[in-house]
Amino acid sequence: MPEASAAPFDAFRYAHDRFHQIVWMSQNTNHLFPSGPIEEALVQAIKDRRYPDYPLGSGDPELKELVRKDFPIPGAEVGITSGGTEALYMLTRALLEPGDEVLASDPSYLIIHRFIELAGARAIAQGIYRPPYRLDLEEVKEAIGPKTRMILLIDPLNPLGSGYPPEEVRAFAEVAHDHKLLLLHDTTYRDFADRHTLAAPFYPEGTITIWSVSKNCGLAGLRVGGLLASPALFSRIWKYNTNDLGVNVLAQVAAKAALRAKPQVIEAIRRQTRENQRMIREVVEQVPGVSLPVYPSQANMFALDISQTGVDPEALQKELLVHHGVFLRAGNYLSLQYGKRFIRASFSNLPSDIEAFGKAFAPALAACRPVAAASPA
Ligand SMILES: Cc1ncc(COP(=O)(O)O)c(C=O)c1O
Repeated sequence: MPEASAAPFDAFRYAHDRFHQIVWMSQNTNHLFPSGPIEEALVQAIKDRRYPDYPLGSGDPELKELVRKDFPIPGAEVGITSGGTEALYMLTRALLEPGDEVLASDPSYLIIHRFIELAGARAIAQGIYRPPYRLDLEEVKEAIGPKTRMILLIDPLNPLGSGYPPEEVRAFAEVAHDHKLLLLHDTTYRDFADRHTLAAPFYPEGTITIWSVSKNCGLAGLRVGGLLASPALFSRIWKYNTNDLGVNVLAQVAAKAALRAKPQVIEAIRRQTRENQRMIREVVEQVPGVSLPVYPSQANMFALDISQTGVDPEALQKELLVHHGVFLRAGNYLSLQYGKRFIRASFSNLPSDIEAFGKAFAPALAACRPVAAASPA
């Protein structure tokens, strides 16, 4: 009788089962946002028994106002969804037709590509795993054809941490405008950048901006985010809202508290993420064959290129997790073409987490290095 095969290793199951022992550097989550204002608001909302009733279906007006202030895009409607993810799903459903093409990058946040494909459209990914590690405007222009419907600009980019200078953001907006394309500007990581430019003011009628409080405000587990778009685009997208009875009421309360606190705390968070990047660089510079394609990152993550070591990123992910309790993310989650070349580290973490990474990285990599073939006698 054939033996039953063992279930494949599930890194997330493993890490969640040991949540309190794991150094979580795998999902670009933020462990640095002060918990005080959020806890206070949540406890009060629980005491006020906000949960037996449905929230306002269209979203908490005060939360929308806070998002509007954070994103100065004249005339834009704000949509609140269960994380930016739900907004991405809705808009790809609403705006793409079978056969349409979306110009995107590789590496990228591939969940968006999957949503594009679920809408029957196709993501045409430009390989950008080479300096300057972001979309090239001229190549994008050349790729525009009769089926092109949208440009996806993730800025700063998950997983590399590259950001777009103001003049490039403007140029992408102008190209989208001139070719009557939609511009999807995913700004999930914008608060970690030295400076960030919104595309929507250059092309308000055709840009959809994705916002989220998962990373900047450390609320990934509560699932709040959304989109901003012109009223005409917004009403086309909102028809596909599956969350008709509104987003989790407690999550919206926490998001309001976080957005109120953000202006006072974000600079210190940014500073710590820069210091953490520097600490990681110090560690990886000591390890032969490892390099950082993008440094400094404009986001709260970057890629560690390990292609010269011969180590498989998935093997390294498992080794770091199981033997050192440090959770990074293998590149195959983020790149079809280059996924075997890098592992992604996020670093909006306490310095003690970065120290744990520092102790673990070299030994874990050494344990995964292919054994050199024995030299002939
Ligand atoms: C580029 C990008 N967009 C959107 C999201 C979705 O974030 P959320 O649904 O937590 O708001 C992520 C999450 O990692 C991301 O990296």
